[in-house]
Amino acid sequence: MQPSLAAAFLFLLGLSYCLTLPIPHEDSDEFRTEDLQFAERYLKTHYNLRSSPAGIRKKNANSVAAKLREMQSFFGLEVTGILDEETYELMQQPRCGVPDVGEYNFFPRKLKWSKNNLTYRIVNYTRDLTRAEVDRAFKKAFKVWSEVTPLNFTRIRSGTADIMISFGTKEHGDFYPFDGPSGLLAHAFPPGPNYGGDAHFDDDETWSTDSRGYNLFLVAAHEFGHSLGLEHSRDPGALMFPIYTYTGNTGFLLPDDDVQGIQALYGAGDRDPNPKHPKTPEKCDDNLSLDAITELRGEMVIFKDRFFWRLHPQMVEAELVLIKSFWPELPNKIDAAYENPMKDHVFIFRGKKFWALNGYDIVEGYPKKIYELGFSREMKTIDGAVHIKDTGKTLFFTGDKYWSYDEENQVMEKGYPRLIEEEFPGIGNRVDAVYQKNGYIYFFNGPLQFQYSIWSKRIVRVLKTNSIFLC
Ligand SMILES: *[C@@H]1O[C@H](CO)[C@@H](O)[C@H](O)[C@H]1NC(C)=O
Ligand SMILES: *[C@@H]1O[C@H](CO)[C@@H](O)[C@H](O)[C@H]1NC(C)=O
Ligand SMILES: *[C@@H]1O[C@H](CO)[C@@H](O)[C@H](O)[C@H]1NC(C)=O
Ligand SMILES: *[C@@H]1O[C@H](CO)[C@@H](O)[C@H](O)[C@H]1NC(C)=O
Ligand SMILES: [Zn+2]
Ligand SMILES: [Zn+2]
Repeated sequence: MQPSLAAAFLFLLGLSYCLTLPIPHEDSDEFRTEDLQFAERYLKTHYNLRSSPAGIRKKNANSVAAKLREMQSFFGLEVTGILDEETYELMQQPRCGVPDVGEYNFFPRKLKWSKNNLTYRIVNYTRDLTRAEVDRAFKKAFKVWSEVTPLNFTRIRSGTADIMISFGTKEHGDFYPFDGPSGLLAHAFPPGPNYGGDAHFDDDETWSTDSRGYNLFLVAAHEFGHSLGLEHSRDPGALMFPIYTYTGNTGFLLPDDDVQGIQALYGAGDRDPNPKHPKTPEKCDDNLSLDAITELRGEMVIFKDRFFWRLHPQMVEAELVLIKSFWPELPNKIDAAYENPMKDHVFIFRGKKFWALNGYDIVEGYPKKIYELGFSREMKTIDGAVHIKDTGKTLFFTGDKYWSYDEENQVMEKGYPRLIEEEFPGIGNRVDAVYQKNGYIYFFNGPLQFQYSIWSKRIVRVLKTNSIFLC
């Protein structure tokens, strides 16, 4: 092998993602020396920061700041060039080791296999799973890519395959040692001879076929993306996003961003059985509609498909995150959400179920059924929910009706449901999402939002839905 190429082409994948909870930032700009060293190592590995004996705080400060800005920009964090708590916490998440910024991946763009018939070989196995489970996970991971391209993967059991797959721990023969449990999980080389295309998995991880430990199929699908020539994507919904989230066990669909990437290299195949590839929502889409909005400890949380945006009051730029990266137990799409600040609970609705969140945690005893709130058992879904602080009531919207729930006595109020049109004329006969702020209720209906004054009981403004992001 060629060590210089190996150095540039090595990928170290880590899984799991947990961001800082949106709690007011305590005074946290004090980092210990080992934290700073850790941050410097991170920037060296993933952002090609050059070594500097002076360390992160001294001579190298400008270059460190530049690399921090690159990283913050890649992940959609506030770009400050300063090591703040949020940036540091993101650095601590296990992740893939390939540089995130294209220019710093030494290999040329569009590095790809020059044939469509590729072979792979599973050199050895982990003990965490049966051989059949490992075989199935890899086969399924290759299928993710072959379904959307003309590529064809054939397994061989001896000799040299294009893609050699093995499990190893610590130093395992390529000078890029693994690091024990968590941290670095796997790495893979882009197309080429020798090590090219090969994928290595850290056998100090616990591999699984579900949510426990690390899901082998999902890690392998990401790594094989590298084996085929893909770089990291900054789309948080993409499989090739450097930080991985367990996205659930049912019907994996390759996100659109990855499809665009792989088809730019190999073209489309002629047998995509699942042409609906999930797209990541664009906050400034003129037609943007929303699923749900709530406050969470002073921050706006805006749900759309598998994602939510976090909008800090002090920040202009909203951060897009997968729901599962924060709350793995929640479904991939939600209907309604509201915060009860007295209890410090956020309630999340999907179909007939709802969950109570306390920060990261699902409150014990949840999910519950919505009929436990006093809805009829036939009620299938809640469209929107909003808690009105002044009255202690929570309004629920479904179809063209709404209900009022008394939080203190935990009962649905008498005389409901009523027609939305009667109490809130002009907002239409449907609510996608709703929240309350400073005496106004904001109703979202498709691409429009209606600002309704609680005091004067009328609509004071009609806005585009995307104006919540200052588009
Ligand atoms: C790929 O390999 C299979 C069998 O090994 C062969 O039938 C097929 O023609 C090959 N396709 C190409 C494009 O080489
Ligand atoms: C893919 O490979 C299999 C097994 O070698 C072969 O039967 C099939 O014809 C190939 N398909 C294409 C499209 O090359
Ligand atoms: C699996 O194969 C790799 C590559 O040959 C080697 O480094 C590693 O030690 C092997 N692992 C086991 C458990 O045999
Ligand atoms: C927005 O939605 C309208 C109506 O559904 C549609 O005609 C239009 O093409 C959409 N525009 C965009 C940019 O998607
Ligand atoms: Zn990667
Ligand atoms: Zn390796």
